[in-house]
Amino acid sequence: MKKILVTYGTRPELIKMAPVIKKLGESLSFNPITCSTGQHRDLLDQVASFFGIQHDFSLNVMKSNQDLFDITERLLGEMREVLKESKPDLVLVQGDTTTAFVSALSAFYSKIPVGHIEAGLRTWDPYSPFPEEMNRALISKIASFHFAPTSKAADNLRKEGISEQLIYQVGNTGVDAILEVAKRGKATPFIAQLFPPEKKLILLTAHRRENFGEPLRNIFKAVKKLCKQHPDVQVIYPVHPNPNVKAVANEMLADCAGVTMLEPLEFGDLVWLLEKVQFVVTDSGGLQEEAPTFGKPVLVLRESTERPEAVEAGAARLVGTDSEKISAEMSKLVDPLSLQYQSMARVRNPFGDGTAARKIISILEQHFNQSVAEAA
Ligand code: UD1
Ligand code: UDP
Repeated sequence: MKKILVTYGTRPELIKMAPVIKKLGESLSFNPITCSTGQHRDLLDQVASFFGIQHDFSLNVMKSNQDLFDITERLLGEMREVLKESKPDLVLVQGDTTTAFVSALSAFYSKIPVGHIEAGLRTWDPYSPFPEEMNRALISKIASFHFAPTSKAADNLRKEGISEQLIYQVGNTGVDAILEVAKRGKATPFIAQLFPPEKKLILLTAHRRENFGEPLRNIFKAVKKLCKQHPDVQVIYPVHPNPNVKAVANEMLADCAGVTMLEPLEFGDLVWLLEKVQFVVTDSGGLQEEAPTFGKPVLVLRESTERPEAVEAGAARLVGTDSEKISAEMSKLVDPLSLQYQSMARVRNPFGDGTAARKIISILEQHFNQSVAEAA
């Protein structure tokens, strides 16, 4: 059996790796080894316990309000030891976090091949999102297997000169995760009884580094204005634990009756809520991919997106961080019968069909079985 080391460190990575870990465990060809870098602590533990994932290696690199130097240097040293001990045949990384980049770099230093899940996303602006755009471009330089979610992502890789034989268009494993969880249809009693049925619910999340400071204040200003103009809406806001977000949210939104601020939601509750809300306002990458699964329009609180498929399909609109623009765009979606709402809600998910993890595992099985046959 080939040893596959799967690394992850943040909430979205583990949500998107969970279907891959499950399928690797079911395969007779692979022995999966899981490594949590601990880039996130509370958020990651929440996802691990939700999916019942045990970490074979559990590093502990998170510091409060860490900067990019902190995580990178601590993680590089730790990964050297993990690779020495586990001696994997392949390292699988997901997305564009510091965990993904440093895991790929460590594997390269150890001459171990890397598979990149969710490869090929680009804004072509190295500072947006920061540092994720550079992280994923650097991972593409290192990886031997590029699992692209969409044809656009695959084309981006071709433009960068990645060999055609190394690019596999498989869909996004995040869609696998959300479809599987939606089937369970369960929410904790706490969340299920929290929201008044007569209100129009809007889901808000924000955490990007490039939105810290003034942009975040603009977002909250827009939300307050919307609540004042539309007393029938309730904005549900699970607040990211990053102190740069939490402090401003508490300062600006604590006294706003139209906003319910919550601790980060368990993934099952988030999925349950996503099915109930009218629309989503977010700077999250994952939520841009998930909301179209349930036909929920998304307003993207960013100047550019590496997920143009949702915008082009009409499910999402890029609204940036200008306060007036955000409140105007939100207002347009308050009426679910409006033309704009109806056209955004009609779109099918362009990011996948729930079979990405299965495809990734069968590509890897084929590759390793062929190598064994060639060696014999
Ligand atoms: C990271 C990723 C980003 C991803 C996001 C998902 C990088 C550079 N950024 O951003 O791509 O979209 O995760 O959420 O990899 N914190 C806690 N508890 C937690 C998690 C975070 O207290 O469980 C606080 C800590 O003070 C930590 C800070 O949040 O220092 C920032 O965490 P970090 O992982 O550096 O960056 P994110 O902004 O979360
Ligand atoms: N999510 C969650 N609970 C929350 C907020 C988000 O489970 O309270 C999930 C969301 O459904 C998506 C992922 O976390 O799957 C997105 O994480 P985040 O926005 O932190 O990171 P990004 O996707 O921007 O990298």
